[in-house]
Amino acid sequence: MSEKKAVGKKFSRRDLFRVTGAAGAGLALGAGGYAALGGAADARDAGDEASVMPDLRTVAFHDTHQAGIATAQQEHLHFAALDLVTREATEVRDLLRAWSEAAARMMRGEAAGDDNYSEFLPPEDTGEAFDLSPARLTLTFGFGPSFFQKDGEDRFGLGGARPDALAPLPPLTGDVLDEGRSDGDLCVQACADDPQVAFHAVRNLVRISRGLAVVRWSQLGFGRTASTSKAQATPRNLMGVKDGTNNIKAEDGDLMNRHVWVPEEDGPLWMVGGTYLVARRIRMLIEVWDRVSLGEQEASIGRHKYSGAPIGKKDEFDPVDLKATDENGEPLIAPDAHVRLARQSDEEKILRRGYSFTDGFDAERGQLDAGLFFISFQRDPHKQFVPLQQRLAANDRLNEYIRHTSSALFACPPGAREGGYVGEGLFQKS
Ligand code: HEM
Repeated sequence: MSEKKAVGKKFSRRDLFRVTGAAGAGLALGAGGYAALGGAADARDAGDEASVMPDLRTVAFHDTHQAGIATAQQEHLHFAALDLVTREATEVRDLLRAWSEAAARMMRGEAAGDDNYSEFLPPEDTGEAFDLSPARLTLTFGFGPSFFQKDGEDRFGLGGARPDALAPLPPLTGDVLDEGRSDGDLCVQACADDPQVAFHAVRNLVRISRGLAVVRWSQLGFGRTASTSKAQATPRNLMGVKDGTNNIKAEDGDLMNRHVWVPEEDGPLWMVGGTYLVARRIRMLIEVWDRVSLGEQEASIGRHKYSGAPIGKKDEFDPVDLKATDENGEPLIAPDAHVRLARQSDEEKILRRGYSFTDGFDAERGQLDAGLFFISFQRDPHKQFVPLQQRLAANDRLNEYIRHTSSALFACPPGAREGGYVGEGLFQKS
């Protein structure tokens, strides 16, 4: 097979894996056979049937809502916030169109662009995902408040289209924010079950934006810290506790409609069917947490560490009873326990979809720089995330063990129709 055919216009990593998957399932293809199929099999996996069985699942890009929100949460994250350097609204529109086209391809398991095979031009895809499965890649795009207004300037003549819900978040008690790691004009959230697939997607989108936008900050995440589907087990965050038990699940269409997707009555029109993303890089003071007793750890959360059950209960999914008391009449769930203060009124319910992160070591303090990259989706962050976080910031016992070090807010429009692009409604309005 020629190089051009293997990585050609219709090149699909999914198709390639259908063949290698069949091989793994019993077709007697030796290592040479894999090599002949374009080198799809990883040499490390040769002879190991289980590890060459590919994950062919893909998530549709063209849909009512953007992918990566109600999608059962994948294991890895690469999040990037970008600042626009162009001053031309038409160039921004063209960038969003190009991003949507590339995103649809990559989510199908294809290369980011059609290659022209010119030896004088860089390839249209950087190549590091050619031999990988689609890994349920999702790409989610958003607009930050600064997209509409920066330093008092309506940069693209779209200031009037900024939703009230996208007003910048107010200062929140306890925040020690690094500005360079906060905010941004645009965001891309890449989630996948393979970290290299997520990295590849962000890298190629950034490459496509060259000359128009620059990366302001980015964050890698490993290990989801929520379950967003009833089919998923609850994972543990880096404090070793189950996280995501009392989360909205995508199967709860009614809750998603009430709390996550922007309804017509909220408007503006270009955001109907969209949602707002809040990202907070929350560093855990891991060394401090690791030195406190199991009893203190459980009291801080309000749940037992191993079972995930509310204090005094047995099962993870037993209801949280905030009125329950011990034999001395003391509340079983402490007044400052995280789950007590995070108890949401009906209007405040959010969809949590965060990831664990580590950025290595803080050499100054000799401590791990790691924690929770909190992501939540909601129909109005000022009515949902803000009051919730204000309550937590004021009294949460967890505050002794965490620091919010970055913050960002983005408006994620609805999904794109076939032939359309994410954010199209914003430019049609103008
Ligand atoms: C590093 C910081 C945090 C850690 C370690 C953490 C951990 C947890 C854990 C272990 C639970 C119990 C299991 C569950 O129901 O998911 C929980 C619940 C929850 N957390 Fe957090 N969380 C953190 C930050 C936040 C923030 C910033 C918010 C929102 C502002 C938040 C909102 C919630 C909500 C809404 C619940 C469900 C409460 C309920 O209804 O029972 N958490 N969190």
